[in-house]
Amino acid sequence: MSKQQQLDAIQQHILDDKITPELAKTATQLVFGTGNPDSEIVFIGEAPGKNEDIKGEPFVGAAGKFLNEMLEMIDLKREEIYITNIVKYRPPENRDPSPEEKKAFLPYLQSQLEVIQPKVVVTLGRHSMNCFLPDLQISKVHGQPKRVRLALKQDTGDSVQVVILPLYHPAAALYNGSMRQTLIDDFALIPSIIQKIKSI
Ligand code: URA
Repeated sequence: MSKQQQLDAIQQHILDDKITPELAKTATQLVFGTGNPDSEIVFIGEAPGKNEDIKGEPFVGAAGKFLNEMLEMIDLKREEIYITNIVKYRPPENRDPSPEEKKAFLPYLQSQLEVIQPKVVVTLGRHSMNCFLPDLQISKVHGQPKRVRLALKQDTGDSVQVVILPLYHPAAALYNGSMRQTLIDDFALIPSIIQKIKSI
């Protein structure tokens, strides 16, 4: 099976397993993730908003436009990378996803990463960061790459090493001048982080 076929199968599992039925009821559709399954870098946001819910794609609203601008600054195209969210249905009124909702989707996110096998995972915002680095504060560690071992879901005892780069969420930074510049500066670190990992 190709990576895309494996990802399609995970998407179908979320539907078959009836994950977060309450969210599924209020959302228009599942927003699973888009981009290149062979990418070395995966971006993970929090949950779809209104535009994403309508389009079925992550980061297509105002935050997505800002994300696209930052990707352009570092010469990355959206088609080259893979983008997803922790929670894959839009929470009503764009409220924060609950701990239970994040927990329910985590195994599927883990499966996505197992298929893609990225070298770098860029977490956008604290919800996404805390999936991988539960005890850290984004204001203290943004822009600092952290090496973590991800346990593989298939219970083999194996794990894979990945670098997590925690960044502020583009929606939070969009209208906050200093956070916006910090996010742009942190984003600029991405090419050298990828280069460094490739050279190891
Ligand atoms: N914010 C997110 O966290 N994800 C999206 O897909 C859009 C906005």
